[in-house]
Amino acid sequence: MNNPTPETPEKYPFPLRILHWLAVAGFTVLFITGPIMVDLDKTDPLRADLFGLHKSFGVIAIILLIARLRVRWRSALPALPASLQDWEAKLAHWGHRGLYALMIATPIVGWADSNFHGKPVKLFGIPLPKLFPTIEDIGTTPGLIHTVLAYTLLGLVAVHVTAVVKHRYVDKADVLRRMV
Ligand code: HEM
Ligand code: HEM
Repeated sequence: MNNPTPETPEKYPFPLRILHWLAVAGFTVLFITGPIMVDLDKTDPLRADLFGLHKSFGVIAIILLIARLRVRWRSALPALPASLQDWEAKLAHWGHRGLYALMIATPIVGWADSNFHGKPVKLFGIPLPKLFPTIEDIGTTPGLIHTVLAYTLLGLVAVHVTAVVKHRYVDKADVLRRMV
């Protein structure tokens, strides 16, 4: 194990650890509300409530992500465990980039989908700017793209969690300690 120095700390900086676990909680809410709300009948009042909740948590996910990227760019991060194979280190690096890319694209497309259909985005009732124009007859494509991005993100999260478990129990390199 490398000796921790300010340049190569043993753990992720505290704000990044907090933001990682807040994001996990937020994504849990998004993946519960999303699939339930789209299956509800348009006349069901719960549908509008869940859409409101989903969009609010989606906006929070964007805010948390901006904060996280700002902290990340300014902080020294722990080096990957030396025991990782070269390909594993590369995979971890690109996997994290993929997670960040999808965490950016998914909510933006969700926001665009709402605005294209003339629907507002609110943060727990507070109206937010309309960032995209209303487009008549836009159809279901933006919603479909949002859905595909969201489930791709979910798939990558499954790979991510599997990798954490593998490093902990198979390789005996407890990467989880770096994030708690
Ligand atoms: C990273 C953040 C987000 C994730 C992971 C996410 C995830 C999801 C999921 C899983 C669904 C259900 C898809 C299905 O089963 O058919 C969904 C639907 C939807 N989400 Fe999100 N969402 C996010 C952010 C947002 C944001 C910020 C907005 C709007 C401001 C939004 C608006 C919508 C809308 C309008 C739908 C319905 C799409 C349709 O089928 O037409 N989402 N989202
Ligand atoms: C129970 C679920 C999860 C566990 C146990 C977990 C665990 C971890 C651990 C241990 C690390 C540090 C890896 C390292 O040492 O380099 C990490 C990093 C990361 N996790 Fe998770 N994670 C979980 C869920 C998620 C979710 C849901 C997301 C995003 C949607 C996510 C996104 C990330 C990203 C982007 C990094 C890279 C951090 C950076 O380098 O800035 N994780 N996670």
